[in-house]
Amino acid sequence: MLTMIFACDKAGAIGKEGSLPWKQSSDLQFFKQITLNKNVVMGRKTWDSLGRPLPNRRNIVMTRNEAFAEAERMTYEQVMALAENEEVVIIGGGEIYALFLDHTKELHRTVVHTLVEDADTYAPNFDHLGFHLLTERHVPAGPRDEHPMTFQHWIV
Ligand SMILES: NC(=O)c1ccc[n+]([C@@H]2O[C@H](COP(=O)([O-])OP(=O)(O)OC[C@H]3O[C@@H](n4cnc5c(N)ncnc54)[C@H](OP(=O)(O)O)[C@@H]3O)[C@@H](O)[C@H]2O)c1
Repeated sequence: MLTMIFACDKAGAIGKEGSLPWKQSSDLQFFKQITLNKNVVMGRKTWDSLGRPLPNRRNIVMTRNEAFAEAERMTYEQVMALAENEEVVIIGGGEIYALFLDHTKELHRTVVHTLVEDADTYAPNFDHLGFHLLTERHVPAGPRDEHPMTFQHWIV
């Protein structure tokens, strides 16, 4: 099964200049809770932005560079085949979300209550795919969050 997780601002922005455009410790904790001990799939640019593998997860990177050897690499077809038997969590960025959106059954979206100026990467629009909102939780900014946020859980 394919699951997707992302955090976006009120206009759908997810990135700026190769990194996250906010500091949201509460969201990172939530991300860890959802992804721990699972297969996580990311694009090479997101891999570069992390700088190290996410611990206690199977880190799978998509790149067209056949010489890539920093982590396990998979093609689109290989990720789809893995998702037939195991849970696969798509963790970004924009290109990789767009690639798998049509096959995603479950989606965790954190709406960060801000508007990022000059964002350059956006979450995919899933309005037309028949998702419905299962749960929604508003959380005020904690001591290590820049903004309040809303955790949403969507399923098809
Ligand atoms: N807010 C969030 O939840 C969140 C989550 C993750 C990332 N982000 C942000 O998103 C931004 C990065 O996103 P992005 O869209 O620029 O890049 P990305 O999706 O992370 O990676 C794009 C790369 O993936 C590879 N790729 C794409 N399609 C492929 C395919 N069909 N087969 C094989 N490889 C493929 C290519 O790598 P090669 O060029 O090596 O061939 C491509 O350059 C950063 O700002 C990051 O911080 C935000």
